[in-house]
Formats: sequence, structure tokens, C-alpha cells
Amino acid sequence: MAKKISFLNIKGGVGKTSLIVNMGACLAYMGRRTLIVDFDAQSNASIWLMRLDRWNSLNRDPKKFVLNLFKDPNSEMRDCIQKSPIRDADGDEMLPRLDLAPASFSLMDLEHEVEKQDDRPFYLRFHEAISTIEDDYDFILFDCPPNFFYSTQCALFSSDSVLVPSNPDALSIIGFHLLADKLADFKKRSAAHREEAGAPTPEIIGVALNAVKPGTKIHVPLERFNAQIERFKDQGKVAATTHIYPDLIRHSVTVGRAVMLGVPTVLMSKQDASINLAEDYIKLTKHLLEQLGDPEPDDEEEEAK
Ligand SMILES: Nc1ncnc2c1ncn2[C@@H]1O[C@H](COP(=O)(O)OP(=O)(O)O)[C@@H](O)[C@H]1O
Ligand SMILES: [Mg+2]
Repeated sequence: MAKKISFLNIKGGVGKTSLIVNMGACLAYMGRRTLIVDFDAQSNASIWLMRLDRWNSLNRDPKKFVLNLFKDPNSEMRDCIQKSPIRDADGDEMLPRLDLAPASFSLMDLEHEVEKQDDRPFYLRFHEAISTIEDDYDFILFDCPPNFFYSTQCALFSSDSVLVPSNPDALSIIGFHLLADKLADFKKRSAAHREEAGAPTPEIIGVALNAVKPGTKIHVPLERFNAQIERFKDQGKVAATTHIYPDLIRHSVTVGRAVMLGVPTVLMSKQDASINLAEDYIKLTKHLLEQLGDPEPDDEEEEAK
């Protein structure tokens, strides 16, 4: 069964999409079959991975998007998945183990669409759909919008874990507080349905610090952030193992360039990258795998086999 992780922060622009695209790529590169579900109507992850032309063409067929699951009861999750969306100039697959369930701008209609449904919560419909394909993957990663609306709730209902991309500043600490409170409410509200559906209980497992500028003094905000996490542990709002990941993602214009090229930062050639940001994403991904008890054998062990 796949490990399912929501990448969520109520604050926008903190790096949810760039982390999910790059950590998804790292997981696939490390041999894990990975699906990214784009749950943000802005469709940034979808456009990044498919490039604008293929994503535009796909928009002609609404059946290829998750929103259709809520419109057509006979639709299936499998129909919403793009196999190996990252292609080179010849159209060849660059990362065969990474798949994508893309979003389109019409995902904004989700709230409005599900009002017409019967009295079952909308997230049960999504949970049924994702359950049909989860054995095909080792990891399913949900790219959430910066709010707690329906698509975030679908992602959370089906997730075991929540990873919080963040910047090391005061506003992010406030956002984290809000997220922990909202998640605790949601868990209570959905408890009966989770039990009925055999759905997991989503727990915040860690904070990934993104776009840290070299030389920035992050000591004080980090101390505050850690103090907040410890308080939440005492209140049972975050898992006992929750921590700020020690592996930071540095700030670099390389990320913007990767979006333009339509490849994850970790697949960029050395000429295109101004710093080796791939190293940061790989370290963070290895840390996550270790935390989840699925460690990547280190290179020496691999060679010894
Ligand atoms: N490590 C980084 N260094 C510099 N810019 C970054 C980095 N990570 C993300 N960005 C930029 O910050 C902006 C927001 O990132 P994004 O991943 O889209 O955040 P979110 O999904 O949380 O809104 C984008 O323009 C992206 O290119
Ligand atoms: Mg985003």
C-alpha cells in the first residue's frame, strides 16, 4: 500500500509545489513508484511537469482530470493519470516511475460541483477512487492549495502524513499554528467516516524549510518554531516524531529556470543550474525515507551488494 503524504501550508508561495515536484522526482529516481496528485486549481505542478502545450491539449478532455470523479459516478482514478509526464525533446520518458494526476483551472468548481452530490461527504468519493490505484505506487503525494477548502480535505482524508513546506519567518509560524488547529478540527469532524472507510489519520510529520538565503540568520525563528512544535506535541496536535527537517532547501534562481525548462530541478543539467540544488532535495528525500522506515541504502552498501 502506498504511503500518502499531503504537502500543505495555509500560506501560499512557501514552496509546496517546488518541493513536491522535486521530492517526487527524487523518490522516482530512487526507485519508488510515485504519483503526484495536483489538487491546486492553479495547476502549477501539472504545467511544470507536462509543459504548457501538452497540458493545454489535455484540457480539451475534462475526463482526464480529478474533478470528473465528482461529476461522473462511473469515472475512475486511472483515467485521470498521466503516465511519466516528464519527456525530453524527442518525447522519451525521462522519469518512468513518476506519474501525475493533473489539475486544471476548473478544479476551482469543486466546491460548487459537490453541492449537487448526495449526502455522503465528498472526500469519501475521492478516497474510493484513490484506493483503486494505490497498490500501483509506493508513494502518493498531494499538492494542496494554500487553504482548507474541499480539495485539501480530499487530500487529507486519504493521507497518512502531512509535510509542511515553510519559510523560516514569523508569518510561517503563524500559518503553522493555523494549520495544526484546522487539521485537528478536520480529524474530529471526519473521524466516523474515516473509521467507516478504513482511511488513515493524517499526522503532521515535519516542516521542510525552503528557499533559505545563504547568510540569513534563521536561529531565532527556528527556536520559536521548535518551541511551537513542542507545545503542539504536548497538546497532541502533531506527531511525537514531528520536527523541522535539518536539511534546508537553499534559495536559488535555479527553481524558476527549472519551471521554464519543464523539468524538476534535480534533472537539470549542470550548465543550467546555478548551484547544485539537487543535493538539497536528495538529502531531504533521504531523510523523509528514513523517517518513514523505508531508507535509501547508501552508495557504499549498494556497491557492496
Ligand atoms: N528554493 C527556492 N529558491 C528560490 N525560489 C524558489 C525556491 N523554491 C520555490 N521558489 C519560487 O517561489 C515561488 C513559490 O514557490 P511554489 O513552489 O510555487 O510555492 P507554493 O506551491 O507554496 O505556492 C515560485 O516562484 C518558485 O519558483
Ligand atoms: Mg503551489
